[in-house]
Amino acid sequence: MVRQDCGSCHGMRLTGGLGPALTREALADVPLESLAAVIYHGRPGTPMPPWKAMLSEPEARWIAQRLLQGFPEEMAKAP
Ligand code: HEC
Repeated sequence: MVRQDCGSCHGMRLTGGLGPALTREALADVPLESLAAVIYHGRPGTPMPPWKAMLSEPEARWIAQRLLQGFPEEMAKAP
């Protein structure tokens, strides 16, 4: 779900597209809380949409956590 819905703007491998990259490296300095907030509320004035219609707050946190950990694919290629 994240890959498809978010991938349309952030790239299929979440390495960026219309939106910025969402890889672990790119987000390393961003606190979990702000990531969850951006996902849940969107970012006003940018194309990043709010997902509160489709996601609950815990789910937004979960996605933020996954992003910080890196997707399984990325973990696989990490040393
Ligand atoms: C309509 C296109 C679009 C879709 C769909 C989209 N995003 Fe975004 N997203 C953006 C844009 C554009 C930005 C950059 C906003 C800005 O300029 O600050 C962004 C920013 C973000 C950020 C903040 C990154 C940072 O470095 O601060 C996160 C986290 C994020 N998106 C997660 C997601 C997730 C998770 C999904 C799927 C549930 C998603 N996005 C779907 C366009 C999109």
